[in-house]
Amino acid sequence: MKFDNKVVFITGGASGIGRNAALTFASKGGKIVVADWNLTGAQETAHMIEEAGSKAWAYQLDVSKYDQVEKVIKKVHLELGALDIALNNAGIGGTTPAKTAKHTLEDWDNVIAVNQSGVFYCMKEELKYMSAQKSGTIVNVASIAGLKGLPRQAAYVASKHAVIGLTKTAALEYARDGIRVNAVCPVFTNSPMLESMFSFKEELRAKLVHTIPLGRYGETQDIVNAIEWLCDPDSSFITGLCLPIDGGQTA
Ligand code: NAI
Repeated sequence: MKFDNKVVFITGGASGIGRNAALTFASKGGKIVVADWNLTGAQETAHMIEEAGSKAWAYQLDVSKYDQVEKVIKKVHLELGALDIALNNAGIGGTTPAKTAKHTLEDWDNVIAVNQSGVFYCMKEELKYMSAQKSGTIVNVASIAGLKGLPRQAAYVASKHAVIGLTKTAALEYARDGIRVNAVCPVFTNSPMLESMFSFKEELRAKLVHTIPLGRYGETQDIVNAIEWLCDPDSSFITGLCLPIDGGQTA
């Protein structure tokens, strides 16, 4: 199978895009490590994988805490002997959408800590092991909010622009070590995160879909299909790409 015995490390694998990716990579032979601050959810994902006959490990991890990231990735490498694919997917939206002058400091700090520092901390550790083994593929989950502005989402937009900068920088730094680093930039995608955004303002559900030329919200499978391709040898000449998966929105 395509990812036979590859060690695949996925943050935010308890839900949404991360869970779908975990199940997809497992169905293609990967050994899946699900890391999430929601341990119960991570264990549920691992259980689903094992029920389907593959191997999975669940770890509790808050990606905004560097000491935890360092410890968990070290443990994964020690126990599974490699780190082949990393999907830095854990992310949060703010709790109180507001224009910049009214943006709360609490939201700013939390969103930047998880979405921006979390991706940096994970890449810092992943690249340590991947550069030693001279191989590896990283996919960061950014957003269309990393490619353009979105009103009332300053922290989220800033954090996702940062993910794109981190992706391109690491791609340049590690290309000669046989490591590829890419990002996906999804538009609004059906998941618990999108539902929580609609819970602030239900009328957005009918409104935002009209901003997507293909006329529907993304599904987690749309995003995972692109992630899978970016981890596949078929895309072996691609690094530093930040790929919009957006039904044409950024066009
Ligand atoms: P989700 O809310 O279903 O999944 C996010 C997962 O990340 C959850 O399992 C959550 O427990 C975990 N998580 C959050 N903070 C964490 C932390 N500090 N440490 C470890 N795990 C943590 O949301 P979804 O939609 O699957 O989001 C996945 C990624 O996709 C996020 O980075 C999000 O920003 C991005 N994205 C989502 C879009 C959408 O419309 N759903 C659009 C564009 C990007």
